[in-house]
Amino acid sequence: MKESWVSLPTIYVPMAGIPILLFLYTISVLSGLQLISKIFLTLSMVGLLVFGVSGFRDVYIGSLLKKSTELKRTLKANKEEGQSNIKPTSTGAKLIKFNVKRFNPETQRLEESIYNVETDAFSNVLDGLLKIKAETDPTLSMRYSCRMGICGSCGMVINGKPSLACENNVWENAKNGEISIAPMLGHPLLKDLVTDFDDFFEKHLFVNPYLFRNDLNEKYHPTKQYEQTKEELDKFLPFSYCIMCGLCVDACPVVNTNPEFIGPQALSQAYRYYADSRDEAGEARLEHLDLLKGVWDCEFAASCSDVCPKGVDPAFAIQLLKTEIIKNDLSRNKDIKS
Ligand code: SF4
Ligand code: FES
Repeated sequence: MKESWVSLPTIYVPMAGIPILLFLYTISVLSGLQLISKIFLTLSMVGLLVFGVSGFRDVYIGSLLKKSTELKRTLKANKEEGQSNIKPTSTGAKLIKFNVKRFNPETQRLEESIYNVETDAFSNVLDGLLKIKAETDPTLSMRYSCRMGICGSCGMVINGKPSLACENNVWENAKNGEISIAPMLGHPLLKDLVTDFDDFFEKHLFVNPYLFRNDLNEKYHPTKQYEQTKEELDKFLPFSYCIMCGLCVDACPVVNTNPEFIGPQALSQAYRYYADSRDEAGEARLEHLDLLKGVWDCEFAASCSDVCPKGVDPAFAIQLLKTEIIKNDLSRNKDIKS
């Protein structure tokens, strides 16, 4: 209040003063007054302008101070009262109940822990879990790194759907003030929300996720760039956005019943390299995947594509591989016949 009370005259005085001075200035010019009176009037106008600008600035800073004070008061009130369903204000905070299923490696069972976490409109699930770890329960384990949807480390199941914790807003996911979190059961469990990715990376390596070149001398001592047209780039680019988060594997019903299946992540990357015009492995890649545990175990449930946070569409990539294998067989039969 103090800031507004001080600042209001500094706005209204120039607003009223400037037109009066302009009027006087015009009269003085028309009536041929002395130069000194014109200078006096001009300086007065500049003074009033400076006065007015500083008034606007004070009012603006005053409103920011007021907002910050409101936020502090709300946070304090929430903490003291322990409310779980506080309505958010424009600057307020809410307590959200985190129901976290944690894998206990000693009992080999999932056990639930419940935490009330103070969140604001911008908190994501990872922020909430890290707050629990910092302020309430340091034993809670989760994996993360970049906190911005790039590294693929923070995969977990949020409200029943495999998701990245750092990319999911708490308030948007909370239902009746609660959010449920569990580890990805499609991967072996280590502790709490942390899963084992050894098998995932072995399958990734199985598809040889790199470019093959026949001319090894050129490969290791390149003399020119491997140029591509835009059309050639478009064939594999969407599949190259994979961040290896493993959400698609967790969502895949086939991997969850048959761990031998190579799975959506590895197969989408197999197609990514097969479709790259710089790669020369061609048919050898297709033969490598022409297995039951390769492309043919895929039942096209497409749940992998549904959960992928990067829009990779592994289900589509697997169907493209199947098509290429079939086309390849047909062309070979034609060769035999001819
Ligand atoms: S394909 Fe998508 S969901 Fe699967 S590992 Fe890559 S980024 Fe994650
Ligand atoms: S912490 Fe890197 S993707 Fe979430």
